[in-house]
Amino acid sequence: MRSTNEDSNKYVYDVRGLNLWYGDNQALIDINMGIEENEITAIIGPSGCGKSTFVKTLNRMIESIPIVRTEGEILYHGHDIFGSHMMVEELRTRVGMVFQKPNPFPKSIFENVVYGPKIHGVKDKKTLMEIAEQSLRGAALWDEVKDRMSENAYSLSGGQQQRLCIARTMAVSPEVILMDEPTSALDPVATMRIEELMEDLKKEYTVIIVTHNMQQAARISDKTAFFLSGELIEFDKTNKIFSNPHDKRTEDYITGRFG
Ligand SMILES: Nc1ncnc2c1ncn2[C@@H]1O[C@H](COP(=O)(O)OP(=O)(O)OP(=O)(O)O)[C@@H](O)[C@H]1O
Ligand SMILES: [Mg+2]
Repeated sequence: MRSTNEDSNKYVYDVRGLNLWYGDNQALIDINMGIEENEITAIIGPSGCGKSTFVKTLNRMIESIPIVRTEGEILYHGHDIFGSHMMVEELRTRVGMVFQKPNPFPKSIFENVVYGPKIHGVKDKKTLMEIAEQSLRGAALWDEVKDRMSENAYSLSGGQQQRLCIARTMAVSPEVILMDEPTSALDPVATMRIEELMEDLKKEYTVIIVTHNMQQAARISDKTAFFLSGELIEFDKTNKIFSNPHDKRTEDYITGRFG
């Protein structure tokens, strides 16, 4: 599973020997994983196996928890994200994140989408409008909100709010979008809209999505990683994982024998 140096060039992320502890409790154990460009990677596994910990490590958001300690390397385009040259702010601009619960700001729809670009110094109103429209179209929300851009984001439904959060992430043109159970708080129709959106997203982005929903992983992802108790048990093409898994534990999990 460990990749060689030459291989690392083809990966957006090349995770090598990653271990992570919360205090004395080890939550990730020797994770090795290469994530390729313009693919959707699904992370599955039972509650507490380390899925959220893993994705939050990829943009160093995990560091907001003081008791966390890591070992190993995560190469982002060949550069160690824990290295002293890594600019965390730049990493987080290039690697956006969407959370389980939609978390719009208590501002207008427009202000939510252009929040990132404004922070990056874009002031021109016309440019901001263009970014907003493009991002909202990308998140399949434009038609529903184009006439209500100045309304508060909280006036949107949960599914719309989640698509707004995806638009807000896209507005700074990230390369990678991390999603931690983005549809678990949504109804089936809203979930389906986000799933439809995923096909489009991967044309432009590399997407890493945590999901508890096995059908969702099977439907939308190119590769699937199965975590169990902090270990990466199996990582392969999604078809393979769901039709002919290598490891008995993967098979037990996907067939619903535990978890
Ligand atoms: N802030 C924290 N402080 C201490 N331990 C934590 C913290 N966050 C997570 N853990 C522990 O790390 C392990 C992995 O948790 P994590 O949240 O990554 O699991 P998960 O796979 O995302 O689970 P779920 O499917 O329930 O979201 C668990 O044992 C959890 O108790
Ligand atoms: Mg989680």
